[in-house]
Amino acid sequence: MDLGIKGETALVVGASEGIGYESAKGLLEEGVRVLLCSRNAKKLEIAAAELKRATGIEPRWHAADVTKAADIASLRSWLGREAAQLDILVSAVGGSQRALFEELDDAAWLANYEFNLLGTVRVIRAALDSLKKSRAGGRIVILGAAGARMPYPNQVVSNVHKAGLIALVKTLGAEFQPHNIRVNSVSPGRTLTQLWTTRAEKLGRERGVSPEDVIDEFTEEIPMRRFGRPEEIAAMVVFLASHKASYVNCQSILVDGGIARGLI
Ligand SMILES: NC(=O)c1ccc[n+]([C@@H]2O[C@H](COP(=O)([O-])OP(=O)(O)OC[C@H]3O[C@@H](n4cnc5c(N)ncnc54)[C@H](OP(=O)(O)O)[C@@H]3O)[C@@H](O)[C@H]2O)c1
Repeated sequence: MDLGIKGETALVVGASEGIGYESAKGLLEEGVRVLLCSRNAKKLEIAAAELKRATGIEPRWHAADVTKAADIASLRSWLGREAAQLDILVSAVGGSQRALFEELDDAAWLANYEFNLLGTVRVIRAALDSLKKSRAGGRIVILGAAGARMPYPNQVVSNVHKAGLIALVKTLGAEFQPHNIRVNSVSPGRTLTQLWTTRAEKLGRERGVSPEDVIDEFTEEIPMRRFGRPEEIAAMVVFLASHKASYVNCQSILVDGGIARGLI
């Protein structure tokens, strides 16, 4: 299927690994010029080299931490220098935090807010002027989480902030229509990325079991009886970023193997 995005320009934030990396790869495979961003320059350099090996094209990159306002300012200037216009923005920064309500103080709530919600807001703000210049109409795709639609136990702080992203998408998809920009999000279920590798190791140590046992335990709740692969989430990101999704706006699409059981 021709997604109609060949020759367009995309910025992927959170691109050095996981779902962001696979989204960058999927866009490159569609002939999109992709710009990468995440915090760690070394990881970005490695990711850019791996993408060159996989697709023949080495993307340019910029290191920025979305929780730091000064880094966002430098991202905005870099983007202005790199691209006359931006067609696609993918924001793949965030993550779930396992903690009970009574374990979380104000500082923990604010840090998670900045990581999961304000960081995305800042990235959109940094890219908005460039997206407004897109001749084909800009597209924003945000990574949310199935936990926003079916709040997981022990994850109150990330459940709340990921739910906020759904409201952000609904609001901005309408507010940005005068600029011809569509806004959607993809809500992954449990997906095997570094996020889960690290968590399974930690929980395994605490419980005296192997990381594989932890993954098996968390797999039991998933109707498809397996974790997702990052490229399976990225496929939806690329679709929403494409012109094949030209009438999809303000939506949060679950790609979760069926774990979120609610009807809406
Ligand atoms: N994996 C899952 O099971 C799952 C489930 C539901 C939702 N999601 C959502 O999907 C998105 C991607 O998840 P993932 O599993 O691919 O995560 P991941 O493997 O942990 O990758 C996160 C990416 O974001 C970058 N990053 C982290 N903090 C950053 C910051 N402050 N500023 C800029 N970049 C930052 C990381 O690179 P650097 O270290 O170089 O910064 C990395 O490239 C997140 O929004 C997550 O909440 C994932």
